[in-house]
Amino acid sequence: MPRLRWTTAGESHGAALVGVLEGLPAGMALDLARVDRELARRQGGYGRSKRQRIEQDRIELLSGTRAGKTLGSPVSFRIENKDASIERLEVPATPRPGHADLAGCQKYGVADPRLVLERASARETAARVALGALARQLLEAFGIELFSHVTALGGEEARADAFEAAGEARAELRDRSDFYCLDPEAEGRLRARVDGAAEEQDSLGGVFEVRGLGVPPGLGGYAQAGERLSARLGAALFSIPAIKGVEIGLGFGAAARPGSAVHDAILPADPPGPFGRFRRATNRAGGLEGGMTNGEPLVLRAAMKPIPTLRRGLPSVDLRTGAAVPAAYQRSDITAVPAASVVGEAVVALVLAEAFLEKFGGDSLEQVRDAHSAWLRGLAAL
Ligand SMILES: Cc1cc2nc3c(=O)[nH]c(=O)nc-3n(C[C@H](O)[C@H](O)[C@H](O)COP(=O)(O)O)c2cc1C
Repeated sequence: MPRLRWTTAGESHGAALVGVLEGLPAGMALDLARVDRELARRQGGYGRSKRQRIEQDRIELLSGTRAGKTLGSPVSFRIENKDASIERLEVPATPRPGHADLAGCQKYGVADPRLVLERASARETAARVALGALARQLLEAFGIELFSHVTALGGEEARADAFEAAGEARAELRDRSDFYCLDPEAEGRLRARVDGAAEEQDSLGGVFEVRGLGVPPGLGGYAQAGERLSARLGAALFSIPAIKGVEIGLGFGAAARPGSAVHDAILPADPPGPFGRFRRATNRAGGLEGGMTNGEPLVLRAAMKPIPTLRRGLPSVDLRTGAAVPAAYQRSDITAVPAASVVGEAVVALVLAEAFLEKFGGDSLEQVRDAHSAWLRGLAAL
């Protein structure tokens, strides 16, 4: 059985979203205010719809703890939907190009996109953000930090070295930004781009980056294809609605360079670092080699396509009559790249926590600590 398992349930306008997380070790103190902060971040960002102001998501724990600490049993929770109008909502007759509407109707053999979009909607990602916010509390107990930020929106890019330039001020800088971007000078361009798209009744995509800091080497594996952490992290990012591209480190850029300008030289570390006597001259691999973490920071990027719901609907068909009509408009974001970056952080946290527990797993946090410390001692001797 996998060391960590999770699932979500709930429709966009149903009573609530539900999440279940199995495999967190016993004895972990869970900070629920921390989960609510991540939920609020998912609802933020410039260019979102009014729904985000209606919702104000909060986690309500249902099981898995006593006196604030995990028991080792499944942790489950609900997030109430303030807009729970699923039974009263109209049937949209025109599927939106770019959304799940038409393919979902064809899959189930129904002519009512409402039956599809209620679950296909990215509202589900609120539950995954909560799951990720719980999982990352395990990682943080071992000095692992996850950090996401927006690097491009509608073709407007932040400076390439924004993460490095931000240094220790990164969280403050990002949380001050309406775009969750680390380049204050790009802010005006991004705002103008979103305002322009709103005026043109259009929508925008973009790119975000997720970094993993303090990640030990050797998470994941190469013995079977399914163990490869690069594949698992890629799948996690691709599981976010609207993600159409994922890069690790140099990503597609590596394809055009000679090997000497791609691979990261191994150097002696003197004094030794937290993970032993070696270090890398560069981190073009983005912290992953051979399907495993290599002790360098994780650097992952995801490209999000523009929101499919457009005020000026693209050509579509009325499913009842077959007539050509523009796709219907419902309340929608103009862009959700900042929100998607929060979801990206969450899904990376889940996969990383899963890999961490595969390597160091025990029934209690203390047992995980023991396994982790023993392995670190061995590494120092390597
Ligand atoms: C955080 C987030 C918010 C989103 N908000 C909307 C929205 O308001 N309207 C919309 O049409 N699509 C929205 N999307 C995108 C759709 O969910 C996505 O385009 C759709 O599921 C189809 O994508 P796929 O082809 O990758 O499955 C959002 C996506 C994310 C990650």
